[in-house]
Amino acid sequence: MPSAYTITDHSYDIVVVGAGGAGLRATLGATVEGLKTACISKVFPTRSHTVAAQGGVSAALGNMGADDWRWHMYDTVKGSDWLGDQDAIEYMCRNAIPAVIELEHFGVPFSRTEDGRIYQRPFGGHMQDYGEGDPARRACAAADRTGHAIIHTLYQQCLRHNAEFFIEYFALDLILDDEGVCRGVMAWSLEDGTLHRFRAHVVVLATGGYGRTYFSCTSAHTCTGDGNAMVLRAGLALQDMEFIQFHPTGIYGAGCLITEGARGEGGYLTNSGGERFMERYAPHAKDLASRDVVSRAMTIEIREGRGCGPRSDHILLHLEHLAPEVLHQRLPGISETARIFAGVDVTREPIPVLPTVHYNMGGIPTNHHGEVLRPSEQDPDAVVPGLMAVGEAACVSVHGANRLGCNSLLDIVIFGRAAAQRAAELVRPGTPHPPFQNGAGEAAVDRLDTVRHAKGPRRTAEIRLDMQRVMQNNCAVFRTAEVLREGVSRIDAVANGFADLGISDRSMIWNSDLAEALELKNLLEQAVVALHSAENRTESRGAHAREDYPQRDDQNWLKHTLVWSDGEGRVEIGYRPVHLFTLSNEVQTFPPKARVY
Ligand code: FUM
Repeated sequence: MPSAYTITDHSYDIVVVGAGGAGLRATLGATVEGLKTACISKVFPTRSHTVAAQGGVSAALGNMGADDWRWHMYDTVKGSDWLGDQDAIEYMCRNAIPAVIELEHFGVPFSRTEDGRIYQRPFGGHMQDYGEGDPARRACAAADRTGHAIIHTLYQQCLRHNAEFFIEYFALDLILDDEGVCRGVMAWSLEDGTLHRFRAHVVVLATGGYGRTYFSCTSAHTCTGDGNAMVLRAGLALQDMEFIQFHPTGIYGAGCLITEGARGEGGYLTNSGGERFMERYAPHAKDLASRDVVSRAMTIEIREGRGCGPRSDHILLHLEHLAPEVLHQRLPGISETARIFAGVDVTREPIPVLPTVHYNMGGIPTNHHGEVLRPSEQDPDAVVPGLMAVGEAACVSVHGANRLGCNSLLDIVIFGRAAAQRAAELVRPGTPHPPFQNGAGEAAVDRLDTVRHAKGPRRTAEIRLDMQRVMQNNCAVFRTAEVLREGVSRIDAVANGFADLGISDRSMIWNSDLAEALELKNLLEQAVVALHSAENRTESRGAHAREDYPQRDDQNWLKHTLVWSDGEGRVEIGYRPVHLFTLSNEVQTFPPKARVY
């Protein structure tokens, strides 16, 4: 190790990195199983990005109309444009019902029906009767602050069970041994500048998505996909990185999220002619079609000159026809957001909105137990011993090419819990650790040290802006070979430009200059593989809309993309089959068919 650094060693059965909903659910589960568990988080747990989730968590409770977990499964497979793994989707949708009841018992303050049951609203792409019926009321909501309610409750449950937290610790890199077994993780304490080496039988990455590769996104500034980048640096693959979701209703200009629940409560979109244009694009589901469909429709309206405002560059979301009590009770958060960020009183005027980057379907490939995969030709589902991933960082893949709204809060609780259960099967509490191999964690400290002493001419913010502009312009809602090829060469150049970085603060204590530079490096690595993957996939599927290849091509592309990077500009692409099978015979596989709403 560079001699200037003293390292503190810790030993745990399980170390969870990240304290959003997935990380907290995994921490809670592992702690309750009697495993000595530490949760490391770069922000205070209740400030994790889950707190911003609005509309609800999906589960076919059937509290406010007929529903069935198989319909939920069908909608999720269809929403994924058949790229989702159907065994994992079955697992998620079937377990959604007990998982939400469990949340209720943990204390999540869900909104209620007149008769006291959990309130449920319609959400995009959720339909009754295998897509043939009316919109299903499947989104279990705590007004429009569902993520806030869930994360506070999960954190309280963790505290109740005495889970251990290392708060404001920035995870730097995984520690893998020569056999490729994950043995732990290195972290930097932001508060006092000390470095820490965490030994664990299982490391669970719950580090969220990489939305901040874009200029306009609904993600928190902390959403820098640190775990994904650690996985790439460990020589492992990421999966389906080209599938990046645009939420239809980000506030024009500010990008803040206006929940799809607004349309679930009866809101609708119009173009400059006052037309409810979604009726043309999705005659059955209309404004409640799947997100990719609505985002594309809005983009086409604007491109064809039917955008609103003096620049014809946005769409209007109408809520002013809804009863003020509905806005007050069901949508108080977005009413406030619209007032602050758009200057709009939602009881009187529509909100100007635009599709905004919201979610990463791709990430660290895992099975439905949360175990990270190291796919090979012989075994596409081989696991990496000692490593798991859950939540937006993971690609299970339950969302495939496009995630349905409310399936993210569901994913985090289902797979956070599944990972804890799997860890309990794999690890006996208190099992002794083998000694670390020589030099374990050294590469992480060297990397930190190099960035800390960087003396180049460019600031983090400049390079970050370059990256965000490339992603915004060259990896957008609609894509073509020309634009993507240009994007690949531009993002490679921006990533190489990290060598020109200069840091002005060399301290270790609360050095936000250094933390942001490390986050930028993580983002760049993901932006590079996302653009390469997007350029490579010559079909349209879900959120990946190629104008030059407008059709889905199941013959050639019904497969997951795998991508590796050596961090020096070399990117390698491979594939993994989609799981077109179920876990049980209580539901049948849904074979690919045309996706219409
Ligand atoms: O629109 C929303 O409330 C977002 C929900 C989600 O992404 O699941």
